Amino acid sequence: MPRWVKLGLGVIVASLLVVAGAAGGLWWAGQQQLTKDHGALPSTVAGGPGDAALGARLVGVYGCNGCHGKALAGEDFYGIVAPNLRRRAREWTREDFARAVRHGLRPDGTSISWAMPTEMFAVMADNEIAAIHAHLRRLPAATDAQPITLKHRLFKAYVAATGELIPNVVLVRATDAGPAVAPAPGTPAWGPYFTRLACAECHNHGLGGTGGDTPALADAIQVYDWPAFVRLTTTGRPPDGRKLRLMTGVGRERLVHMTDAERRALFDYLKSLLPP
Ligand code: HEC
Ligand code: HEC
Repeated sequence: MPRWVKLGLGVIVASLLVVAGAAGGLWWAGQQQLTKDHGALPSTVAGGPGDAALGARLVGVYGCNGCHGKALAGEDFYGIVAPNLRRRAREWTREDFARAVRHGLRPDGTSISWAMPTEMFAVMADNEIAAIHAHLRRLPAATDAQPITLKHRLFKAYVAATGELIPNVVLVRATDAGPAVAPAPGTPAWGPYFTRLACAECHNHGLGGTGGDTPALADAIQVYDWPAFVRLTTTGRPPDGRKLRLMTGVGRERLVHMTDAERRALFDYLKSLLPP
């Protein structure tokens, strides 16, 4: 073999080794985070037996089926698999399930990442989490609609290694806890409770909005009267024929499942917020 070919091959092999080493390092760092055991699991109480009919409504209002698939059997959520909840609810006890949704911890002590909005769900009431668990168990067993592929594993390891995939245990505050029973619509505790679970995921803590993406709700509600608000929260259409993006589906597919009492209480609560 001529010397220049040998040299060329050597350079190629060396570069491949460097690339493989870097990829291996990233994979290793990602796995360190993803498989970390966060130790002592907080005990949770999740009142039962859950009201499955209430659970069927809540998976819509809180958007579980927006990310875990319409049938709740799993879906790809921006490259991360939102797992098959019908299977999880069968495999995990109500306690395990409550700990996952509210504290972001799986039964093996690993943390679920912030792709799942645990930070908002941390205050979910015992009766509501039990209701969702009961609803999922009442649905027929389903195979995973979105299997975890090699591509999903590599992507997850990569975003974990770069620090983009924040573990939920870091985000949930020790003081976050849900009441035994969700507040009743119209009571003073209801507005902050409901909007944290149903709106804060996109409109931010305190409902102040997120820069250019979502408006502050105290502002946005100004142009709404009651009939217009009913239309937004049942059909996703705003008052003046503008075209909304994400909020169209939120109105049409999520908020449509609110009870009349909740819709009225939500309107009154948003109108009571002081514009920033
Ligand atoms: C914005 C999207 C989104 C919403 C809304 C959402 N989830 Fe998730 N959820 C995810 C993703 C993505 C994961 C996987 C995250 C990971 O692996 O780090 C997940 C993980 C989970 C897990 C852990 C499963 C496992 O095997 O690790 C449970 C349980 C869960 N979600 C329940 C729920 C429930 C109940 C609701 C509604 C109250 C809900 N989720 C709403 C995206 C979402
Ligand atoms: C999944 C994300 C998401 C959730 C959850 C969500 N919103 Fe929105 N909302 C948006 C976005 C994004 C906009 C900006 C308009 C658009 O792009 O669709 C918006 C706009 C709005 C507007 C202004 C509409 C207009 O006239 O321009 C109102 C009012 C509103 N949301 C109320 C709510 C309320 C109340 C909740 C909770 C019950 C909620 N939203 C939950 C994403 C969300």
